[in-house]
Amino acid sequence: MSEIADQRRAADASEAPAPARGRAFNPLDWPICTRTPLRYGVLTAWLGHVPFGMAFMAMARPRRLVELGTHWGVSYCGFCQAVKELRLPTECTAVDTWEGDPHAGSIPARCSTT
Ligand SMILES: C[S@@+](CC[C@H](N)C(=O)[O-])C[C@H]1O[C@@H](n2cnc3c(N)ncnc32)[C@H](O)[C@@H]1O
Repeated sequence: MSEIADQRRAADASEAPAPARGRAFNPLDWPICTRTPLRYGVLTAWLGHVPFGMAFMAMARPRRLVELGTHWGVSYCGFCQAVKELRLPTECTAVDTWEGDPHAGSIPARCSTT
């Protein structure tokens, strides 16, 4: 939790935490990736990517995020969770055709209306 606070302070100071030079990529340099996704439990193949997605937000600290392919909102909520918890200055937008694709299959109407 204190590492999250460190990331918040770094974000507040407009300075992302930098991993030690010369070390291999270590996900634990980005402790936001250990947070439980808020939409954990919603069945989507994207769930396993959420930790990296949140870590990526901490690394990139983008001014704008546009997600293409929102479906159940698991990944999008993960990005937004990182923005909120790290207090990033990121404007988030989600876009979907709601037509589905070979991975998601067809999207039930309730998905695009809830
Ligand atoms: C595998 S699902 C995404 C899962 C989602 N990220 C989540 O966490 O639940 C892929 C989504 O991409 C959308 N999609 C496919 N082609 C698209 C396009 N050209 N523009 C926007 N969305 C698209 C589909 O409708 C589908 O909802």
